[in-house]
Amino acid sequence: MTVAEIRRSLTTLLRDGKIDNAAFEADLLLCHELGWKKDHLFLNSEYPLSPHQAERLIALARRRANREPLAYVLGEWEFWGITLAVGPGCLVPRPETELLVEVALSCFEEGLFLDWGTGSGCIAIAIATERPSARGIAVDASSRALAFARQNLLRYRLFDRIALWRESDPLHLLLDCASLDLIVSNPPYIPTGKLKGLMPEVSLYEPKEALDGGEDGLTAYRPLLRASSRFLRRGGFLAVEVGDKEQADALREIDTGVLEFVDCVSDYAGVPRVCLWRRADL
Ligand SMILES: C[S@@+](CC[C@H](N)C(=O)[O-])C[C@H]1O[C@@H](n2cnc3c(N)ncnc32)[C@H](O)[C@@H]1O
Repeated sequence: MTVAEIRRSLTTLLRDGKIDNAAFEADLLLCHELGWKKDHLFLNSEYPLSPHQAERLIALARRRANREPLAYVLGEWEFWGITLAVGPGCLVPRPETELLVEVALSCFEEGLFLDWGTGSGCIAIAIATERPSARGIAVDASSRALAFARQNLLRYRLFDRIALWRESDPLHLLLDCASLDLIVSNPPYIPTGKLKGLMPEVSLYEPKEALDGGEDGLTAYRPLLRASSRFLRRGGFLAVEVGDKEQADALREIDTGVLEFVDCVSDYAGVPRVCLWRRADL
């Protein structure tokens, strides 16, 4: 089979699975399998694939046609210009989370940070890459997610600067009081009642524990705010991603004691996305 022939077969398979950009995704699968850039595909459309390569590509397209996330099918995804290993058990990093990284970097130059709910490790790795003298602690309750984070830390040689911990309650972290310069988190924030209405790629494949934020979507934030009051040093920041304005407004109203609400930053679509507090007492 030539590149052009397999490209047609893959596109048909993906279209049958109701994938919107079937031809585009067929090209991505081909580039992934062959290790080529996209323009190479068009310049080499008569290149013969081995039967093994064709079989592998068909198998990948079938998975995608069953609405498995493209990132899981490829086994990697790009975030903040960094390629990260991802797969079942680990949330696919979203482009909107890059805004959280931007906000976190705007108030953190060096010191110790905590990434709560690290998933693939995307936020911690982006921050550590941009702040070479910083050290971090990346925590998740899910061992499956931590396995991907571990792979990614190894890939970017960050094991000496980022510790990976498994924990489900931020108040149980074995940290000294007032020892952190930054806490950053993209916690699960989808209200439980909305989970079923998500697109199949998300509702059928991504881990529920990475999505389900409880009845109002805010379950994970309350202990995190309490822990931030304990573990942030004076002048340290807490930056969290939120789902919408309603959540941002509700979080703003929570009496955090020592934390001072600083700002709510909206994304390019105008949706409030990141809430920022600063520890102002002591
Ligand atoms: C929305 S995902 C974010 C993953 C990653 N930080 C990102 O931005 O792509 C939330 C993460 O929090 C983790 N998580 C959920 N509940 C948790 C808890 N109680 N303690 C620690 N981690 C938790 C999930 O396993 C998941 O990896």
